Amino acid sequence: MKQIAIFASGAGSNAEKIIDHFTAPLPDEKRSVRVALIVSNNPEAGVLKIAKANNIPVQIIEKEKFFRGNAYVDELRSADINFIVLAGFLWKIPSALIKAFPEKIINIHPALLPKYGGKGMYGQHVHEAVIANKEKESGITIHYVDELYDHGKILFQAQCPVYETDSAAILANRIHVLEHKHYSTVIEKILSD
Ligand code: GAR
Repeated sequence: MKQIAIFASGAGSNAEKIIDHFTAPLPDEKRSVRVALIVSNNPEAGVLKIAKANNIPVQIIEKEKFFRGNAYVDELRSADINFIVLAGFLWKIPSALIKAFPEKIINIHPALLPKYGGKGMYGQHVHEAVIANKEKESGITIHYVDELYDHGKILFQAQCPVYETDSAAILANRIHVLEHKHYSTVIEKILSD
């Protein structure tokens, strides 16, 4: 059984889609992936309500222990986690966690990396920058996580148009549609390889 932990800091719409995908009715012998833990740095995050509604355990993490302690590796191991999915998680992943889960951590970024990545490039900031630069196209990137922001090997990208009349909020919605369509199936594929 592959046991996923989803790390999220905000609303958790991607987390919800992934949970729905892996709890959809299936014969027992075909079920091989389970969302076993939701991890958040934000005790007010919407994702925690989604975890509760789906009876998924939650781990709230603290900065000191995450960045200067064991990075919650022991807790993740005790929960039998063997794959980590970042879905709108805003803290950088410390090297202790990357070393404990090599090529087992992926992220979704709301733009076409390598453009519009790096520190400070998250959520609305990404869409504002794309619009300010008058890009005709944006999209999503799913990639392995390494020790640099938005840098690891790219696993999947999908594109969408950017229109002159777009606001950051409108573009964010278009990007969310793409994320919801693809993230679960890309995770499923990686875990089955
Ligand atoms: C998503 O669009 C995700 O790509 C982005 O945050 C949003 C979270 O939405 N992540 C980043 O910007 C990371 N750099 P959600 O909480 O509704 O899933």
